[in-house]
Amino acid sequence: MSEVLVTGGAGYIGSVVCRTLLARGHRVVVLDSLTEGHRAAVPPGIPFYQGDLGDPVLLGDIFKKHAVAGVVHMAAYCLVGESVSDPEKYFLNNVVQGLALLRVMRLCGVKNIIFSSTAAVYGEPRESPITEEHPTAPINPYGLSKLIFEQALETYRQAYGLRYVTFRYFNAAGAAPDCGEDHHPETHLIPLVLDQALRQQGRKATPPGEGLTVFGLDYPTPDGSCLRDYIHIRDLALAHVLALERLENLPVSIFNLGNGQGFSVLEVVRQAAEATGVDIPYAVGPRRAGDPAVLVASAERARRYLGWEPQFPDLRGIIQSAWEWHEGHPEGYGTG
Ligand code: UFG
Repeated sequence: MSEVLVTGGAGYIGSVVCRTLLARGHRVVVLDSLTEGHRAAVPPGIPFYQGDLGDPVLLGDIFKKHAVAGVVHMAAYCLVGESVSDPEKYFLNNVVQGLALLRVMRLCGVKNIIFSSTAAVYGEPRESPITEEHPTAPINPYGLSKLIFEQALETYRQAYGLRYVTFRYFNAAGAAPDCGEDHHPETHLIPLVLDQALRQQGRKATPPGEGLTVFGLDYPTPDGSCLRDYIHIRDLALAHVLALERLENLPVSIFNLGNGQGFSVLEVVRQAAEATGVDIPYAVGPRRAGDPAVLVASAERARRYLGWEPQFPDLRGIIQSAWEWHEGHPEGYGTG
């Protein structure tokens, strides 16, 4: 029986993709460098390789040992701010190492790949919701690194018959029972808000600290804070499995994944306060460089061609699931 290689399978989203694949009867192999991921996030009992995508010997060995029919390629760096200060890190990991993966796949005859891309490829949106036809004009090296790899996939399709799907994620959020968000440093809104709630309750070893800063209240939005389209990681994961199962017959390759509804930063803070029962104080700071005011997806294409239907579209439920994980793992994967 064939297997699916998940690169970055120890990461926040990758660990849920592994579980979703397993639940639908696929066999899974994980490759992860563990620079960002957590060994404890990988489902027990599946083959795990610690290493880099840029290691052709290791990759060749994996393809020799396992009958890999497809790759879900999620291993990447993903911090916008860091990509601005250290773009080389992003080009090396997200582009050069990705190309190394494509090369070994080609040499080993592996033809199928699902790639994790981002809404950051669109840059400052000209319209909302954003469809896949929206021009791509990334405004930071992270988005650019993902766009370059998207284009490499298309070039490989034309030249070598590679079959691929690219998913442009909007704001991945929420948790599955065994998998949650544990980044160092954490920069994403929902885990930071929930972290504040835990600190307020005295449930973290470290005290409240500097607290939460809302980056900008002067955006042209109803309450002045940015609007984002939050999507549950379990819904993201499901899309990957559907794409893998339909890859041979898809007439299009690029799909947005979002819920089509924007929520403001202040609304997230308010709903998190309700979910946790904790008043979450915040300060208002300046805008964060590179943040568009509104990022909302049209995911009609994924519904139409993949039969994808989000099961957890409600922001309250997304925050609640994240809160349950944070409560059980106040210090991340080291606990709980
Ligand atoms: N925010 C705050 N305070 C914080 C953290 C975030 O106000 O401490 C705000 C941000 O300014 C933004 C919203 O909360 O308006 C969400 O921020 P996140 O950092 O959680 O997520 P982003 O919207 O920055 O990131 C998403 C995707 C990236 C993608 C980026 C493109 O996760 O992959 O959009 O802009 F690159």
